[in-house]
Amino acid sequence: MAPQQFGGAWTEEKLNALQEYLRQYLQIFDGNPAARKLTRHYVDAFAGSGLRALRRQERGGIHQPELEIEFEEVARFADGSVKKALSLESAFHHYHLVERDPDRVAELRTMIRREFAQRSDLCSVVCEDANAFLSSWTDALGPLERAVVFLDPYGMAVDWATIAKLGRTQKVDLWMLFPMSAVIRMLPNSGPPSDEWAKVLDRTFGTRDWIRTFYPVDTQGTLFDPVTTVRRDVDVDLVGEFFRARLAEAFYEVAPKALTLYNSRRSPLFQLVFAAANPKGAVPAIRIANHILGKA
Ligand SMILES: C[S@@+](CC[C@H](N)C(=O)[O-])C[C@H]1O[C@@H](n2cnc3c(N)ncnc32)[C@H](O)[C@@H]1O
Repeated sequence: MAPQQFGGAWTEEKLNALQEYLRQYLQIFDGNPAARKLTRHYVDAFAGSGLRALRRQERGGIHQPELEIEFEEVARFADGSVKKALSLESAFHHYHLVERDPDRVAELRTMIRREFAQRSDLCSVVCEDANAFLSSWTDALGPLERAVVFLDPYGMAVDWATIAKLGRTQKVDLWMLFPMSAVIRMLPNSGPPSDEWAKVLDRTFGTRDWIRTFYPVDTQGTLFDPVTTVRRDVDVDLVGEFFRARLAEAFYEVAPKALTLYNSRRSPLFQLVFAAANPKGAVPAIRIANHILGKA
């Protein structure tokens, strides 16, 4: 089967940020005698097939058929998040790789057997819905366990209930791709969205408060003759701030910076955000993540 096709330069940015964080996270644990006693997990809840194909148009707008072969070659060498995590020198004790598509699960298993045979015993490849997996996995986390969880959905697949549960563990560092373009598309210029879309937004934000923020009501006129108008207040910064404020209610601390990822036409696609649940670990975690998000 052909490798999964998604992303371009922005995909590289998010994966480099994740890999750099994982490298520094493991370094801290390896170098600290108290932290060394803790069991470290990496959870990639939207793991993909392990391989990603770069889209032709995102490699400089080249469409000539004779470059098809080069495209295939590039595709073969593009690493997805699982490869980035497994290829670090230092290792987690356990890698939980969750993917809903059975074909991608099969490809992922093959890739791990072939390329990471020495680490394959540390990997569980699970064919399941990410929200369902995380809900039961968090229940089983013990006091001496810590984790980095990476949520990299295509769209609005992450339920707020899942995020809230990850925060309550006090053991998880979360990297998440917030689906900026999908959310903004669900906030129409003409006024608040339909009930159907509103429910999807509720599931993403875990509250209906978004409606007051993105559609504030202005009142003018007199006390006896008020005139109310609904405004739409939506842009990448406002939506990003609202989501990070929600995250701050679920997690101990949230990185103040976020990295907006744009496609080749400069449309915002996702926003990469970071939150730390562990009160003790949050200070170094936020410092590292904020630095990565700021320089990416
Ligand atoms: C953006 S891709 C992930 C790419 C991967 N992180 C990488 O860098 O290679 C999203 C993946 O999530 C899977 N997926 C979509 N919805 C899911 C769900 N509810 N639970 C688990 N996996 C899901 C898709 O099949 C797809 O492979």
